Amino acid sequence: MRSACLSLLLVTACWALPFRQSGFLDFMMEDEPGSGRPDVPDVTVHTGPIRPEAPRCPFRCQCHLRVIQCSDLGLKSVPEDIPDDTTLLDLQNNKITEIKENDFKNLKGLHALILVNNKITVIHAKAFSPLAKLQRLYLSKNMLKDMPANMPKSLQELRIHENAISKIKKSSFQGMSHVIVMELGSNPLKSAGIEAGAFADLKRVSYIRIADTNISEIPKGLPSSLSELHLDGNKITKVTADRLKGLKNLAKLGLSYNEVSSVENGTLANIPHLRELHLDNNALTSVPPGLPDHKYIQVVYLHANKISAVGTGDFCPPGFNTKKAMYSGISLFSNPVAYWEVQPVTFRCVFDRSAIQLGNYRKK
Ligand SMILES: *[C@@H]1O[C@H](CO)[C@@H](O)[C@H](O)[C@H]1NC(C)=O
Ligand SMILES: *[C@@H]1O[C@H](CO)[C@@H](O)[C@H](O)[C@H]1NC(C)=O
Repeated sequence: MRSACLSLLLVTACWALPFRQSGFLDFMMEDEPGSGRPDVPDVTVHTGPIRPEAPRCPFRCQCHLRVIQCSDLGLKSVPEDIPDDTTLLDLQNNKITEIKENDFKNLKGLHALILVNNKITVIHAKAFSPLAKLQRLYLSKNMLKDMPANMPKSLQELRIHENAISKIKKSSFQGMSHVIVMELGSNPLKSAGIEAGAFADLKRVSYIRIADTNISEIPKGLPSSLSELHLDGNKITKVTADRLKGLKNLAKLGLSYNEVSSVENGTLANIPHLRELHLDNNALTSVPPGLPDHKYIQVVYLHANKISAVGTGDFCPPGFNTKKAMYSGISLFSNPVAYWEVQPVTFRCVFDRSAIQLGNYRKK
C-alpha cells in the first residue's frame, strides 16, 4: 500500500483524501488522522517517509509532470496552491467568474493557460504580470467585455473568441511581437471599435481570425507577416486595395458570408502570393479584377453572389499561360449567370476540369 502511494498519480490521490473514491484510500486514512487538507503547503508535515517528494496538487485536480488539470470541476475561482513550476494549467469548463490579482502569482514557468468556457467577466490588470513565459492563452467562451490588460509579451497564441469584447485598443496588443496566432471571432466588434494601429506590434503574426463579428471593413494596418486572414461572417461591404497593401505573405483570405459588392482594382496585385480567395456568399456583381495577372492564385470561391456575367478574360491571361500555379478550385454556382452562357475558353488556363464548379447543382 505504501509503495503504491509512491507513484506520482497516487500521491496526488492521497492529497485528495477527503474525497477518496476507492477502497484502498480508505485504508490510507488510517495512516493520516486528520490529514487530507489539500492546501497545506508544507509537504513534510503530513508525509513522513512515505512520500518524500510529494508535489502539491490543488484539491480535486490531476497533476502530472508539471501539468495541472482542473477542468470540469465546477470551480468558481482559480484554485490556490498551484505548484510554482507548473507549465500547463487547464481550468476549462468551470464556473470561474473573475481572475484576481494573485491568482497566478509565482507561476513564472507557465507556458499555457486554458480558461476556455468559464464565466469570466473581469481580469485584474496585473493578473498576468507574473507569467513571463506564457506562450498560449486560451480565453474563449467567457463573458469578457474588454481585452485583458498587460498580456505577457511572450505570448504566441491568443484565443479569445466568443466573448463580449467590443473594442480593440492600440494598447491591447502593445509589444506582443511574438504572437503567431490570434483568434478574435464571435465578439460584438464593429470597425469603429478597432483603433488604428491595433495590430501594428504583431510583427510575427501569421494567422488572424476575426469571423462572425460586426466589422464592416477590413481592419487597417495589418502586419506584413500575415499569411492567413479569416474575416468570414462579417458585414464587410467592399474590398479596397489599401487595406491589403504590403501583405506580401498573405496566402489565404477568407471573406465568405459578408456583404462585399466590389473588389477594387489593384487589390490582388497587393497580395501577390495569395493562393486562396474565399468570396462566396457575398453581393458581388462581377468577377474580382486582377485574377488573370495573378501568378499564384489557385482557389477562388465566388458562389452565391450576384454575378450576372463572366467574361473570357476574367480568370485567364490572354495568349500563353503566364500563371505559375494552376487553378484547383473555382466556384461560380448560385449566381444569376447561366452556366451555358459562360464560354469554355474562359477557363483555357484551367487544366483540371473538375476544378470548376459552374452549375447550380451544388445546393447551399
Ligand atoms: C451584430 O449586430 C446585430 C444587430 O445589431 C446583433 O444582433 C448581433 O448580435 C451582433 N453580432 C455580434 C457578433 O455581436
Ligand atoms: C486596373 O488596373 C490596371 C493596372 O493597374 C489597369 O491596367 C486597368 O486598366 C485597371 N482596370 C480598371 C477597370 O480600372
